[in-house]
Amino acid sequence: MQRGSARLKVVVIGVGYLGATHAACMAELGFEVLGVDVDAEKVASLNQGRLPFYEPGLDTLLLQHVEGGEGSTGRLKFTASYEEAGRFGDLFFLCVNTPQLAGEFSADLRHLDAAVEALVPHLDRPCLVVGKSTVPVGTADRVAERIAAAAPAGAAAELAWNPEFLRESFAVQDTLHPDRLVAGVRSERAERLLREVYATPIAEGVPFLATDFATAELVKTAANSFLATKISFINAMAEMCESAGADVVRLSEALSYDERIGGKFLHAGLGFGGGCLPKDIRAFVARAGELGVGQALTFLREVDSINTRRRSRMVEMAREQCGALRGLRVAVLGASFKPDSDDIRDSPALDVAGQLQRQGAQVTVYDPKAMDNARKAYPALDYARSPLEAAEGARLVLHLTEWAQFRELDPAELGAVVAERHILDGRNVLDAAAWRAAGWTYRSMGRS
Ligand code: UDX
Repeated sequence: MQRGSARLKVVVIGVGYLGATHAACMAELGFEVLGVDVDAEKVASLNQGRLPFYEPGLDTLLLQHVEGGEGSTGRLKFTASYEEAGRFGDLFFLCVNTPQLAGEFSADLRHLDAAVEALVPHLDRPCLVVGKSTVPVGTADRVAERIAAAAPAGAAAELAWNPEFLRESFAVQDTLHPDRLVAGVRSERAERLLREVYATPIAEGVPFLATDFATAELVKTAANSFLATKISFINAMAEMCESAGADVVRLSEALSYDERIGGKFLHAGLGFGGGCLPKDIRAFVARAGELGVGQALTFLREVDSINTRRRSRMVEMAREQCGALRGLRVAVLGASFKPDSDDIRDSPALDVAGQLQRQGAQVTVYDPKAMDNARKAYPALDYARSPLEAAEGARLVLHLTEWAQFRELDPAELGAVVAERHILDGRNVLDAAAWRAAGWTYRSMGRS
């Protein structure tokens, strides 16, 4: 175990958005890395240097390090075998997803438990298992007990909890240069190993906080809850602005100059989606209830309902603009939950598109990267190959995910193909004056 950092061997279990990024970044930091996943197709694709999803910069990083690639370092490979992983690793990062349990608020820990059960029989020498997945507080204690009870190396196989704070679409940057590193540890050895694996960012000045397990778990859910609250706060102000005849964009700008408030995550619009914020705040509420402190987090229920209310408000705005939805031709620009991602999990854009379609509208969607994922999840919607094709014959255009491509659209060119020039900007980023000058009725959220 006393190896130099360049010789520490790293296993990453679960190679989705989080794990694939972590694996490639660990290779970039100089380690030999083995990624593990139960999805054989994903493993094969990654071994060929093909990323099975879109994340800016990660495709290049993968090619730079994957074994067998031309000119690659060969430090990175992938397998479906836990046995191979057990033989290979000194550090085992758990990066499996913890989605929302169907029909409930709590997190589904099935993938995490399955990964631990598959891994422990192979932990037959001193090693460190490092949890990165977002989990309900108390999970690390449970996983540590399981490792102590079932790993052949017994107490020599140890657990640490090191939550991940990366944002999709900035995942590589956030992993290589995080804002902070949090390590829930129970021994000096565990802390030393984590400091060793993160030596490069630590040398750059990234703060490293060693804590107990529960604090490390809570930092992640607290951070996501704060971010979600900030977005819902400004969206609640948008509701006020809409009825009081004020402008939430100017309001947000004015608030942002107060350093105690700051302007980040203060953009009003259709609200948050994705694989993290919505399910993390719900799981946090559920866990607080289990711990008997449900009242402490009731505000997060309100944060959640302000957020979902924005989606129904957008449907209502469509009706206000065009009357009956039945038979209405609508063009939807955007399907991913945020720009520069193909992730459609809990996407506000697709939720709105789906609601409109279920209420009788004829909806055509365009997204620069998320078309395949959207098609699979929402087969009843129509899909177009460009914004212009989506807009052809439309009586209403909805801008629902703020891709740069949509900001650059020419209102006159789009105006030439639509049936009526009405646009609703769900993200408050289009140039209202330019659209109005081209003869469009332009409306957005939180501005009268
Ligand atoms: C989030 C956290 O930011 C990250 O730290 C954590 O590790 C995982 O969850 P991510 O899900 O990638 O990351 O998305 P993020 O950039 O946080 O955006 C979340 C959602 O909020 C998006 O749908 C975005 O459009 C929306 N959003 C963001 C707003 O509506 N307004 C804002 O001001 C900011």
